[in-house]
Amino acid sequence: MISVGIIGGTGYTGKYLIQFCSKHEHVNEMHIYAKESAGKNLTDLFPEFEGSIKNMQIKSVRELSYDHDLYFVSLPHGKSLEVIPLLIEQNKKVIDLGGDFRLNDVKLYDEWYNINHDYQYLLDQKHYGLADIYTNIDSNLIANPGCYPTAALLSLLPLACSFNEMVESISVSAYSGSSGAGKSPKQHLLLSELYSNVQAYNVGTHRHEPEIKQQLTQCDYDGNFTFVTHLLPIDTGIYSTSVINLKDEIHTDDINHAYFENYYDKEFIRLRNIPPQLKWVVGGNYCDINVTVKNSTVIITTAIDNLIKGASGQAVQNMNLLYGWNESTGILSENQNNNHKVLIEGM
Ligand SMILES: NC(=O)c1ccc[n+]([C@@H]2O[C@H](COP(=O)([O-])OP(=O)(O)OC[C@H]3O[C@@H](n4cnc5c(N)ncnc54)[C@H](OP(=O)(O)O)[C@@H]3O)[C@@H](O)[C@H]2O)c1
Repeated sequence: MISVGIIGGTGYTGKYLIQFCSKHEHVNEMHIYAKESAGKNLTDLFPEFEGSIKNMQIKSVRELSYDHDLYFVSLPHGKSLEVIPLLIEQNKKVIDLGGDFRLNDVKLYDEWYNINHDYQYLLDQKHYGLADIYTNIDSNLIANPGCYPTAALLSLLPLACSFNEMVESISVSAYSGSSGAGKSPKQHLLLSELYSNVQAYNVGTHRHEPEIKQQLTQCDYDGNFTFVTHLLPIDTGIYSTSVINLKDEIHTDDINHAYFENYYDKEFIRLRNIPPQLKWVVGGNYCDINVTVKNSTVIITTAIDNLIKGASGQAVQNMNLLYGWNESTGILSENQNNNHKVLIEGM
């Protein structure tokens, strides 16, 4: 049994961490830390937890205890840098849901995040926690992937790693609901701005671009890559459509085989016969993927819940992998199971 601290537990992703940890059979103690909400009771912030999750007082991050075994850090970008180095110094296990430790080179933080990052040694030792692909964890610091990179990389890596020499270009168009931006109020996220509307944003400058490219490079793909993000008038979910142009035609069976080989034993990946819908994944830790091949073009459509698969569900999955527990412990609720797993026809 372990004790966990959830730093930034009062935000959108933190709320799911609280729900998962409170029901987790290997977690016997949980404390929640924040800044503005410190001193309030959990049920003041989340009245819906009344009767199902033990009430407790939110603590100030300034009074952070070093007595927990594992810390989930769910802070705005730049803020994890203020706490994680101290936790690692204390030999604690840390799963960071933010972006402060995902990239491999401090220079990229200057360029993409506009922050001075002084912890190259931590970037070197971190584990990039794309939980359905990188299952062996040998670091105390896990950088949980971003929500868009989770959807994009789970779509792309089987192809990019198996056929890297055949790939001419990769283009990802991805769509997110407003919860991707967290709980703090922003004018462009007002209902009156969002409703009945769609807009591309951060074109060419989105911080998840270097993160996706970095993992593609691990598969020796360093070619053309474009990534465009859009805001949808919904609260939850990410939909990603990837178009991969190959140098030659490829047989559908070869592509399907690569996806099957990577994912046939992955509990949270469902390979679909038709393009997935957001409704199939919202509320769960699943990533639904469809692969369509047309001559020398491969089109991959993917759906995830940004707050669960793209954040807290994957973070708990990483905790389970780190401790050698069953991967789905604490993440699956009674009414969620894998009965809907649909493999590609013929596989
Ligand atoms: N939302 C998503 O879909 C998503 C997906 C993947 C990754 N992420 C990443 O996960 C992190 C959290 O995202 P979120 O959407 O949960 O954000 P959020 O809703 O804005 O929550 C942020 C949390 O941090 C606390 N906080 C803010 N400043 C703090 C400070 N200086 N010291 C201590 N606590 C502080 C807030 O609590 P108080 O207001 O009470 O202080 C709140 O609990 C971000 O880095 C984000 O990029 C988010």
